[in-house]
Amino acid sequence: MDGELFSQDASVSWEELLSETTRRLEGDNAEFEAKWMIEEVSGVTNLHDYQEQAKPIQLKRLSKLIARRLTGEPLQYVLGRWQFRELDLFVDDRVLIPRPETEILVGYALEECKSKKNQLDETRSLNVADLGCGSGAIGLSIAREIQEVSVWCTDVSEGAIEVTRANLAGLGMAGQKVSISQGSWFEALPQEMLEKFDVIISNPPYISDSEELPLEVSEWEPSSSLRSGPLGTEDLSFLLNNSIEWLSAEGQLILELAPMQADQMVEEAKNLNFREVQLRNDLTGRDRVLMAKKPL
Ligand SMILES: C[S@@+](CC[C@H](N)C(=O)[O-])C[C@H]1O[C@@H](n2cnc3c(N)ncnc32)[C@H](O)[C@@H]1O
Repeated sequence: MDGELFSQDASVSWEELLSETTRRLEGDNAEFEAKWMIEEVSGVTNLHDYQEQAKPIQLKRLSKLIARRLTGEPLQYVLGRWQFRELDLFVDDRVLIPRPETEILVGYALEECKSKKNQLDETRSLNVADLGCGSGAIGLSIAREIQEVSVWCTDVSEGAIEVTRANLAGLGMAGQKVSISQGSWFEALPQEMLEKFDVIISNPPYISDSEELPLEVSEWEPSSSLRSGPLGTEDLSFLLNNSIEWLSAEGQLILELAPMQADQMVEEAKNLNFREVQLRNDLTGRDRVLMAKKPL
């Protein structure tokens, strides 16, 4: 099995391919990544009882995946999909790879949606906006995990809108609750929704222009998804200032941020008279989410 591609003629078991793929990928995560690739190509998650030999077309595909990964392309783009909460999302280099901290952000949003639903009269569903939807991770998860909700997913990037649309197609019936539109922040929302959002949620770009990022991030993920400007807090501040007129009377703004931005954003929210301003933690116990209720 030497050379660029696996030999297309040799009969080879998936177990052998797994160890060969691990060997070629090298690095700390090689075994884990090889397992993902083999599962993707074979369509099987438990190889132990799987007797089928790999077909030539599968060997060719596996070779391509390995070659792409060896160029430094992130595993998620190579596989073309990634798990986010209950969703198996299509991802490519037009969108940020959904992160574990954003799964936590969605968890807080779901708690908020559930408590708001208990307070609403039964004549209307909950209105939620996911601004800067990227792959659709946040908004589509909310549509999937909450009954009777209407979700608006928006992004300024045409590519991101296309990816969200593709992921919406995989949502089945829950997809009927989702509207998708392109535009910068609130410009993408219909005017009739002014003062009607029970929850506005965003994971905006929050990295400053000068902050260094790992090469796998800076060279592959869209910079427009990551960087906000010289300060890093430009988009967060914009969302705080401009969400007020779109929130319903008891509406909640939920923003993902970097831990080092937390105190400043709390202060900005308080200065704008947001109520019940709170920070919530990510999985590592660091401030990651700002929750704030519309000013009176
Ligand atoms: C950090 S990514 C988040 C993507 C996705 N929501 C997630 O959590 O995985 C930020 C997103 O904001 C979008 N964005 C950047 N500037 C924007 C703007 N002015 N208006 C709307 N969306 C914007 C980017 O295109 C990108 O998809």
